[in-house]
Amino acid sequence: MLFRTSKDIVGIDIGSSSVKMVQLREAKGGYHLVDLGIAPLPPEAIVDNAIMDSSSVVDVIRNLVESHKVKTKNVATSISGHSVIIRKIQLPMMSQEEMESSIQWEAEQYIPFEISEVNLDFQILGPDENDPSQMNVILVAAKKDFVNEYVAVFRECGLNPQVMDIDCFALENAFETNYGVQETGVVALINMGASAMNVSVLRGGVAVFTRDIQVGGNMFNEEIQKRLGLSHEDAETVKLGGEVEDADPVMVSDVLSDATENLAQEVQRSLDFFAATSSDEQFQKLYIAGGVSMTPQVLDVLEKRLGFPVELLDPFRQVEVNEKEFDPEYIRAVGPLFPVAVGLAMRKVGDK
Ligand SMILES: Nc1ncnc2c1ncn2[C@@H]1O[C@H](COP(=O)(O)OP(=O)(O)OP(=O)(O)O)[C@@H](O)[C@H]1O
Ligand SMILES: [Mg+2]
Repeated sequence: MLFRTSKDIVGIDIGSSSVKMVQLREAKGGYHLVDLGIAPLPPEAIVDNAIMDSSSVVDVIRNLVESHKVKTKNVATSISGHSVIIRKIQLPMMSQEEMESSIQWEAEQYIPFEISEVNLDFQILGPDENDPSQMNVILVAAKKDFVNEYVAVFRECGLNPQVMDIDCFALENAFETNYGVQETGVVALINMGASAMNVSVLRGGVAVFTRDIQVGGNMFNEEIQKRLGLSHEDAETVKLGGEVEDADPVMVSDVLSDATENLAQEVQRSLDFFAATSSDEQFQKLYIAGGVSMTPQVLDVLEKRLGFPVELLDPFRQVEVNEKEFDPEYIRAVGPLFPVAVGLAMRKVGDK
């Protein structure tokens, strides 16, 4: 094709430690990698998912997009955190149209914010298996102020934020496209980032539980800083296996294994909470992604603690990657950082 269609979209995941960008092209019923990029953010630019230093974030996104010569202005991005509420609720059966006209009113009792202050969205999952007169619905509410900060940052970069997704949903999207819809059984997905972990549980391919755990890779740095008296920078270096004067490798390894146990305990607590509120099915597998999933031992510690298989989620598993354009070794190494951005890049202009 000579001209790119205006439907092209770039997936941009603004994490608290870095911005990730992915562009895909749909071809022959599959996806083909057009480009990907990552750029670090200064430590205080994003705190608790809120944009604290918008000019830094704008600079980082603008440089990333320019250096990769991204042609499209259309962006799919996602949010998560305290300002986003996701609830699975039950309502009497009704049509999409009826739901649209009553959502404001229905949402009131489930959302801890003023309804006038949030953007509302929903997805009808279908009739409840135990009571067919009721239907299950995923209700999403995001604070307008919070969403508007993200929108403003993209506009400032000269980009059009066309799709505003939720981190968990983008993760599910990336999983399903790469691993297929798991018709039976229960699987869990966890994106382990710097400041938070996004947890999703899928039963028969349908999301039945989502939760953000407000702890992630930063916890490793904080523990190293506290127990070894290192700076943030040095803590990051030793965490990633580098050496720093004055840091005893044995102590580093002790701190890392304690932090890994803490993190695994948080994961287990969340999955136990889901298990306690659902029927007696067993988890078949946990797929982990995010920077922290690359911590040595994290996979083994989780597997031992949970007692079922844990696997690294490969967001490029079914994506065609041209080896002449991208070093397969590099794609494999950075893959775990990209599931949210890949899930976003799979969205289309016009999607909600
Ligand atoms: N190879 C690695 N081994 C261990 N930890 C790593 C590795 N690479 C990255 N990390 C850690 O993973 C975290 C970054 O992961 P990621 O990019 O998924 O987070 P983020 O999207 O920026 O943050 P969040 O989604 O929580 O806002 C950092 O804490 C970083 O130190
Ligand atoms: Mg992230």
